[in-house]
Amino acid sequence: MTKRKWWQDAIIYEIYPRSYVDSNNDGIGDLMGIVSKLDYLQTLGINALWLCPVYETPNVDSGYDVADYYKIAKDLGTMKHMELLIEEAHKRDIKIIMELVANHTSNKHYWFINALNKGRYRDFYIWKKGKNNGELPNNWMSSKTGKSVWTKPKTDDEYYLHLYTEAQPDLNWSNRELRTEIYSIMKFWLNKGVDGFRMDVINKIAKAEGLPDVPTNTPFLYGEMYFENYPDVHRYLKEMYEEVLVHYPDCLAMGQTSGVSPEQAYAYTNPSLKELNLFLQFEHVNIDYGKEGKKLEFLPKEFYDSIMKWQTGIDNKLNNTVFLGSHDLPRTVSHYGNVSDYLKESATMLATFQLLLKGTQVIYYGEEIGMTNVNYVDINDYIDTRSRSTYDYRINVCKDKVVDVEQDLRALARDNARYPMQWNNSTFSGFSSVKPWMKNCNNYEQINVECQLEDNYSVLKYYKWLISFKKTNATFNIGKIFPINDKLPEGIYGYRRVYNNINYSIICNFEATTVDFADETHQVSSLYGVEIDSNYIKLGLVSKLNKIKPYEVKIYKK
Ligand code: NOJ
Repeated sequence: MTKRKWWQDAIIYEIYPRSYVDSNNDGIGDLMGIVSKLDYLQTLGINALWLCPVYETPNVDSGYDVADYYKIAKDLGTMKHMELLIEEAHKRDIKIIMELVANHTSNKHYWFINALNKGRYRDFYIWKKGKNNGELPNNWMSSKTGKSVWTKPKTDDEYYLHLYTEAQPDLNWSNRELRTEIYSIMKFWLNKGVDGFRMDVINKIAKAEGLPDVPTNTPFLYGEMYFENYPDVHRYLKEMYEEVLVHYPDCLAMGQTSGVSPEQAYAYTNPSLKELNLFLQFEHVNIDYGKEGKKLEFLPKEFYDSIMKWQTGIDNKLNNTVFLGSHDLPRTVSHYGNVSDYLKESATMLATFQLLLKGTQVIYYGEEIGMTNVNYVDINDYIDTRSRSTYDYRINVCKDKVVDVEQDLRALARDNARYPMQWNNSTFSGFSSVKPWMKNCNNYEQINVECQLEDNYSVLKYYKWLISFKKTNATFNIGKIFPINDKLPEGIYGYRRVYNNINYSIICNFEATTVDFADETHQVSSLYGVEIDSNYIKLGLVSKLNKIKPYEVKIYKK
């Protein structure tokens, strides 16, 4: 058997650095703040940190608008702090994964400023003249901003392409010189000791030749068909592999690849094709997202079916990356659980459901204590660029009712995932001693690390147990996965992990009702074996052998 790579069995912890810990009391989280929490992270048992962008940036899109790939954002610290973070993390056996935001830069990057002045970097970006009678170069609309993807600077006769905000001009990957620059940036960071990259929207870097109009019957005129998984992307990734990754065999290349099918995901990550190691797909987390930011009902069955489709995809050969929350999503327990009545139960059930699935695991900061959606009273406190543009678009263009738009924003806004970490119950949640750059959530007195460390029945203690349970049972790393298709009561979903004749069954209740789960014929034990654990037992709650309580998860072994 070939030796497994470190990331195959890893639990990656994603950090949004501006909101983790503020070490210098300016209200903004920073790198030294993260250094101060490495012992906490080591005890939690995670293997790697994925840092959202830490590069110099004007912060129009939270650092996903990079102004200098070789500098650390002043708000977050210095290059020395970054070097220290890498060193201290490595001492604790924690790897560091950086963002590679290479589909676009900030409009404040010197390449773009030079391009505006028609200098040597002009062709690093994608420029096009408008159509004859003063129209835009093509009809593509951005699915992220609801606006055209083209902007014409005042002083220019051409438009530049930007799939995201106009402050994020797209790079021209068909230019070899640009690609060489990106490879140099990667080598620079790898030589500093980072262990991998999460590659932002990497499946959008290749655009169709001639940038043709999308057919007018394309929903909302979104241009994805001409830039998502466009064939040239594979040529660029193979080149990146040859020029960079092959020289750093332990480097993790994890690509963000929205809109892929399992076959397309495999085309990026099949090891023999030498492109990426892992992909991030979004089908299961977007299951309740309607068009234009509308919130749909969350249906556990659809969610479960989607996850199982990916888990078993391509004959169990996909290297899945499993996550339920991220900096772009609502808080997991608010999204799929029940915050009002079963916060601890649903947070721990979801954690178990996730972490015992097959693949590389990613948890998002704050999930380990059950942090919830932020629920600001004042809608103006939602400050993320995408929250603002979705709000404006729905009110002004769709003419949707304000109450509906506000309700959906509260449920889905990215701000939910970006507010300060809750360390203790002091003012500003122990994140900082001054007012944070983003308003705290008002439940930090109840939900915080300090009080959960003192409570043996807390979500945090459960996470620690669960992480070590996963890590010490090979079945969860290398075992095969099988959905449980037996006739389970409504709201109950499960799967089996199997390795070397050891058979674990994970049975989860996604609803707030208690259901019977055994009959006189002992069907449960003959099917699943012995019940070895339940989140209820670990939380100090009463669990019954023949019932599954609201949001309970039971683990069986055979
Ligand atoms: C995907 C990132 O996850 C998101 O936060 C960002 O806004 C876009 N890419 C643009 O970089």
